[in-house]
Amino acid sequence: MKIELLKALQWRYAVKKYDPGFKLSEDDKETLETILQLTPSSYGLQPFHFIWLEDQLLREETKKIAWNQQQIVDASNVIILCAKTNLDTDFLDTHVDNMRDTREMQEEQIKGFRAHLHAAIGAKDADTIKVWNDKQAYIALGQVLTACALLQLDATPMEGFDPLALDQLLELDQNGLRSILICTIGKRAADDQYQHLKKVRRAKKELFSTR
Ligand SMILES: Cc1cc2nc3c(=O)[nH]c(=O)nc-3n(C[C@H](O)[C@H](O)[C@H](O)COP(=O)(O)O)c2cc1C
Repeated sequence: MKIELLKALQWRYAVKKYDPGFKLSEDDKETLETILQLTPSSYGLQPFHFIWLEDQLLREETKKIAWNQQQIVDASNVIILCAKTNLDTDFLDTHVDNMRDTREMQEEQIKGFRAHLHAAIGAKDADTIKVWNDKQAYIALGQVLTACALLQLDATPMEGFDPLALDQLLELDQNGLRSILICTIGKRAADDQYQHLKKVRRAKKELFSTR
């Protein structure tokens, strides 16, 4: 497993040119949904939502507000990773209810956690909550990138787009969401020259220290 994982991480790269003829199977798509569902998050709140962008016109429009990155139209699949714009009390209660019911607990056993969650999140201002929620989307991105590498699926993480324009295009604000990241998934084109480039990474001695 260790060797497989390291090989997969060397194999993956941020694909610039996809094979437009390749389509992910429904089974792969289902697997990716499970991977994203299993993403860890603070308090397990999962303050995110993932949109499969399948409509070709929407993909063309998204490309225009994403530096014209061709991956958005050529990749088999495009996922928009969105974060919730707030965390209201209903959302918090629904999460605690889910935890209680999933783990077959009594309300008495979980009421301390419920109160703590309301107090901890109630103490944060709206901007702090936004930033906090956005960070959770990045965790999902990391998880899906590693998983894709292991599944031998190519992927490109993307921040290169105008998030406000995308929010408008997809009417995200009305749904309490903001676009944070795009991840395209598919198969690298045989002539994508980027696959031959050596990985550029800082030396471990610069990245790590021991205290
Ligand atoms: C958060 C994030 C945003 C990125 N945005 C883009 C992007 O908009 N377009 C793109 O082609 N690559 C994008 N990349 C890819 C990086 O440039 C790439 O991961 C980095 O140069 C390391 O190379 P590698 O992933 O090929 O090993 C992004 C990567 C991350 C993690």
